[in-house]
Amino acid sequence: MDYPVIAKPDISQLKAHPNLDDYAGARATFQWDSIREELDGLPGGGLNLAYEAVDRHLKTARRTKTAMIWEGKNGEEERYTFEQMAGQSNRFANVLAGLGIQKGDRVFIFAERFPELYFAVFGTLKRGAVIGPLFSAFGPDPVKDRLEDSGAKVLITTPDLRERVKDILPQLPELKHIIIMNKNGRFKDALKPGDLSFEDLMAKASDQFQIEATQETDYSIMHYTSGTTGKPKGAVHCHRAVLGHYATGKWALDLQDQDIYWCTADPGWVTGTSYGISAPWTNGATQLIYEGGFSANRWYSLIDKYKVTVWYTAPTAIRLLMKAGEAAVKRHDVSSLRHICSVGEPLNPEAVVWGTRVFDQAIHDNWWQTETGHILVANYPAMDVRPGSMGRPIPGVEVAIVNVETGAILPPGTDGDLAVKPPWPGMFQMYWRNEAMYNSKFKNGWYITGDRAHMDADGYFWFVGRTDDVINTAGHLVGPFEVESALIEHPAVAEAGVIGKPDPIAMEVVKAFVSLKDGYEPSEPLRQELMRFARQKLAAAVAPREIDFLPSLPKTRSGKIMRRLLKARELGLPEGDTSTLEDD
Ligand code: PRX
Repeated sequence: MDYPVIAKPDISQLKAHPNLDDYAGARATFQWDSIREELDGLPGGGLNLAYEAVDRHLKTARRTKTAMIWEGKNGEEERYTFEQMAGQSNRFANVLAGLGIQKGDRVFIFAERFPELYFAVFGTLKRGAVIGPLFSAFGPDPVKDRLEDSGAKVLITTPDLRERVKDILPQLPELKHIIIMNKNGRFKDALKPGDLSFEDLMAKASDQFQIEATQETDYSIMHYTSGTTGKPKGAVHCHRAVLGHYATGKWALDLQDQDIYWCTADPGWVTGTSYGISAPWTNGATQLIYEGGFSANRWYSLIDKYKVTVWYTAPTAIRLLMKAGEAAVKRHDVSSLRHICSVGEPLNPEAVVWGTRVFDQAIHDNWWQTETGHILVANYPAMDVRPGSMGRPIPGVEVAIVNVETGAILPPGTDGDLAVKPPWPGMFQMYWRNEAMYNSKFKNGWYITGDRAHMDADGYFWFVGRTDDVINTAGHLVGPFEVESALIEHPAVAEAGVIGKPDPIAMEVVKAFVSLKDGYEPSEPLRQELMRFARQKLAAAVAPREIDFLPSLPKTRSGKIMRRLLKARELGLPEGDTSTLEDD
């Protein structure tokens, strides 16, 4: 079904004049140097994300403005001004310097969303080290893979999460320091022998720090992202990405000085750093950070209580809100919202239309990836919204549908590979220690995103699907290999094949097929045990939601498990080309 276009609003009727009021003009004339001029650069030369997000505001009236409003799981509230953020992050930079952490060293953080996480991120960047935030729901395997691959020297975590991953910590020879955060003394006996106390170190550190003179191409943040083969890869970004965060924070999120902004993503994923840290604070907005997870009622009451104006969330959350019903919204006053955006998975056109009914405005979908570092395609506040479309490319970047073999741009209306012309400010600089994989993403002068899409005659992009086996569950990419590797560690499992099974809420859920070793029989208790085993090793979000037993898995003659065939059989679809299928 085709959904009618939601006509652009009359700008004079909007609560704030949009940042990008002339899209065509900006596309025609925009130069990234103009963004360099709007930012400050380090006083002695160079560029540092933490300086642009925090310290540069200290020269202005924003010095005493609230940068962060934090609401804890139990309803606690804390507020920090830009000046306080600067002082606290300086302290943490001094802590790292005192531990001998050098420019370029990797510092990882595995913690819930509380203010100290943000101080640590900025402190690490000020020291010139590379910050690697980890999703707090991860189990031991994903944490070990990431710390090991990155050669992290420091892990900042909390007593409960340390306990969860304690067995892997002695297996990491490059890890030199474990810093434990004990937020408001929540835990008794927080420290294990050899641990350092975040609170003690911070209390002793100076709140003055000379920021490392990082250059645009120095590394800043790394996020691990899943591919089809092998373990997740560390996509490394550099300080220059701040230009893209800042600009798209204006264009797509329409951030302005008076905004109370809320991004529901966790900093363990790229949305939670680019748009949960960099974009809002470089734009000087006040940001709400909520420690807890999804709850329709709690979320609406947060919007009401803090008068959130700009909200950045995800399709799975929106589908859950739709399920909670319109009555749930009506119990709260959400009229402060003036701009709503979504990312991470296809946003159903029904959800966009639902937004116009319950929030009196369209939900603005946008598209990007860990590798792109920031939004590249978006529906902008002063533009017609086509429900189901991801929108149009940002000024200053060329996005196209190409034939991956030739690099030729395909005509409108044709499905093809979604590709980006390098470079752009947020472009990932490498996959950590995996140059071959990095190079394989660039072909015929294009960065190939791994997504299929088409563009319509007016330049709007429409998502079609992925070109690989990567699973998108609730906006989190899951590599089937990671899940298969965990499952085959169980003594009963001979082989495992993992697919994404369509799901009305999470878009896809992880489904595994396993064959058993001789001497083991399929049974319900064994299925339950395998589910528990995988959840304990991975994370609830990554572990399979369903497991089926098969006598053997379909494989190619070279022995590769044919996930495509498993998926086709699961969905009752045609099996396609099975000519390389192994003879049974
Ligand atoms: O497949 C696309 C999907 O999510 C992938 C990127 O995931 P990740 O690297 O984890 O970054 C998440 C933060 C943006 C894309 O390759 N995706 C992202 N946005 C959309 C989307 N699929 C459809 N529509 C979107 N708006």
